Amino acid sequence: MSGRKTFYTTTPIYYVNDVPHIGHAYATLACDVMARFKRLDGFDVHFLTGTDEHGQKVEKAAAAAGMSPQSFTDKVSQSFRDLLGVMNYSPDNFIRTTEKRHYASCQALWEKLVASGDIYLGKYAGWYSVRDEAFYAEDETTVGPDGKRRAGPVNNEVEWVEEPSYFFKLSAWGDRLLEFYEKNPRFIAPESRRNEIISFVKGGLQDLSVSRTSFSWGVPVPGDPKHIMYVWLDALTNYITECGYPDESNPLWRFWPADVHVVGKDIIRFHCVYWPAFLMSAGLAPPKRVFASGWWTTEGQKISKSLGNAIDPVAVTKEFGVDPVRYFLLREVPFGNDGDFQRRALIGRLNADLANAYGNLCQRVLSIVAKNCGSVVPPKGVLTDDDNALLGRAQGLLAAVRAEIDEQAFHRALTAIWEVIADANRYVDAQAPWALAKTDPARRDTVMWVLAETIRRVTLLVQPFMPESASKILEQLAVPQEARTYAAFDQELAPGTALPKPQGVFPRYVEPAKAAS
Ligand code: MSP
Repeated sequence: MSGRKTFYTTTPIYYVNDVPHIGHAYATLACDVMARFKRLDGFDVHFLTGTDEHGQKVEKAAAAAGMSPQSFTDKVSQSFRDLLGVMNYSPDNFIRTTEKRHYASCQALWEKLVASGDIYLGKYAGWYSVRDEAFYAEDETTVGPDGKRRAGPVNNEVEWVEEPSYFFKLSAWGDRLLEFYEKNPRFIAPESRRNEIISFVKGGLQDLSVSRTSFSWGVPVPGDPKHIMYVWLDALTNYITECGYPDESNPLWRFWPADVHVVGKDIIRFHCVYWPAFLMSAGLAPPKRVFASGWWTTEGQKISKSLGNAIDPVAVTKEFGVDPVRYFLLREVPFGNDGDFQRRALIGRLNADLANAYGNLCQRVLSIVAKNCGSVVPPKGVLTDDDNALLGRAQGLLAAVRAEIDEQAFHRALTAIWEVIADANRYVDAQAPWALAKTDPARRDTVMWVLAETIRRVTLLVQPFMPESASKILEQLAVPQEARTYAAFDQELAPGTALPKPQGVFPRYVEPAKAAS
């Protein structure tokens, strides 16, 4: 519209069978950081999240709660919406698969698949996992010592299903998918997931059952409403419903194909095999990239309802603050790997990286400026090699962080930023501005300008990760809102600008028991 480059990122839409935990907050955090970065970097951004409300699993959860599926989904969907405020996420929209526009979009896509000759009526007889909402071939299942048959990435129980069903001719798409992966090496990340998908497809694809008749909570198949659409066909379609599908004149259609679908490692088959096949069959472009994140355990244990060990985002952000939790989740573990959520590790990072390194840098610099430089941005004198070296490293961060964000390498982006913070702390010690106050106040001013300017550059890049804290620091440097974008990255602090009274942004975390003693 505006001629700006578009950027469309999506989270998985969450099943409303359960309340959100930190694992659910994770993919949305990654999308939030990308969306915020791209907005600051001048892109026309659309960031979508939402809830996946149909299917047998949700229908069962509603029945167990003694509620109708609609009122149950209304209630649980709201808890996922509330999570957005809790974690300070900035989606442009929250989609629900029970919306009317989504029914229309699913049915239009179905009709396209029919028109392509890829849908036929048959009978499904095979294994199904309600928890995964997935069909499994017999050789993908194993029978455990308890006599129960299981399958899939988290080894959920499967049951035998036999019912009339429409099928999608997935078996005919293997070669075209392999060609697509070959031509689009960035489509699946990380690399290990790409290999996993390629070998799955090379192993041969079976036709996919895409409708169910044994329950009714879903989108009716056009022309045959005894059938409802398979919940994954319904769910995946949300990404194009949002863009207005089938109305390609909708202004939001400019965002398709999506730039990055962030998904958990357990759901890549749906996103990297079924989804591009459906889209290509319907004559639509597949998304540009699917990034599979790893899974969180807590204190070494799988997150499970029965263990009651799920980290509640509300409680954890209340105790530690939203920004430290956001920082920890993306800094602690390379995005794509599994991670273990340990309280001790979170406190360690909060105190070492945030309070001691970044917080302390801001605090010492801003308080010297307030006390000794008249609470204004100090004059910038002649720069030495050391000054230029630090400023240069801070300058180089924009390109470095941009490149890492494009790879979803959030931990590397943060590492790069924190290296400059460490450099800046070393520079303070080496320049000893407190000593210069007596011997060479003009040099002291220059040193303080270099430091304040370094904090500005660093903090501009911290914004997508820790928006609230970054904003507080930029306010203390009197950086106006319009100068916080990356177009203004080179707009240096102007000497003489009045600065507000400095305030600490990252307090040290002290265990309550210790604080009391
Ligand atoms: N509804 C489907 C997605 C449809 S997308 C078109 C679904 N929902 S889910 O609620 O079960 O899971 C949503 C996401 O949360 C998945 O990507 C899953 O990997 C992620 N996680 C669930 N538990 C998790 C952890 N313990 N750790 C990290 N992510 C986890 O699948």
